Amino acid sequence: MNIAIIGAGNVGQALAASFKRAGHDVTLAARDADKVAASAAEVGVAAAPSSRAAAEAADIIVLAVPAAALEALTTELAGAVDRKVVVDVTNRMNPDHAGRSNAEDLQGRLGAATVVKAFNTAFTSRQAKPALDGVAADGYVAADDETAKQRVLALVESVGFRPVDAGPLAASRMLEGMAWLNISRNAEGGTWQCAWVILEPGAKAA
Ligand SMILES: NC(=O)c1ccc[n+]([C@@H]2O[C@H](COP(=O)([O-])OP(=O)(O)OC[C@H]3O[C@@H](n4cnc5c(N)ncnc54)[C@H](OP(=O)(O)O)[C@@H]3O)[C@@H](O)[C@H]2O)c1
Repeated sequence: MNIAIIGAGNVGQALAASFKRAGHDVTLAARDADKVAASAAEVGVAAAPSSRAAAEAADIIVLAVPAAALEALTTELAGAVDRKVVVDVTNRMNPDHAGRSNAEDLQGRLGAATVVKAFNTAFTSRQAKPALDGVAADGYVAADDETAKQRVLALVESVGFRPVDAGPLAASRMLEGMAWLNISRNAEGGTWQCAWVILEPGAKAA
């Protein structure tokens, strides 16, 4: 897959490394071209001169930026992501979001793109290395468009998560809540290594 990751911080780098290892073409972008070039060089992927340029050249665009940056970023990307898959990895820092998720708000802003929620429930430790102690972390994917969801489930599986269809985009409310719970647990002296797994009868170590 030809993937642009916008946001070259902790998440951008971790996902870039995993996507590259899985054989995908990866380009990183953010606002500061020098920082992007350094981040991209560290993980051995391409760097784009701007977020818009990266989005225009990719089939799948992963948004790995703070939620507060989404408004400005969607303005910058207007038209460049139409009819493309936009993967929202953002989280919120409180448990109350008035019944809406970042992903649904993003879909409202990017009407002609297909927004898919994925990777947000995993810390960067697991985004870089999805299995822990021989067990694959769950990679939840929520979307309204079935074709886009299947493509992102395949992407999630390709890097080593157990792909889990989490339902429609509105299920992002739960996925963002799950991330919040994991973050708040780890903020109190945790290892930042743990990840969500739905334990099922017959489950085996990976
Ligand atoms: N850290 C985790 O374990 C984790 C796990 C799951 C999900 N998340 C979510 O993933 C997102 C990124 O987290 P992070 O830890 O990677 O944050 P981070 O290390 O602070 O990186 C954020 C990146 O976004 C870029 N950025 C900010 N505003 C931008 C804009 N308008 N256009 C383009 N790029 C912009 C920043 O670069 P410039 O400022 O140079 O542009 C930076 O490269 C957040 O929404 C977070 O909630 C984090």
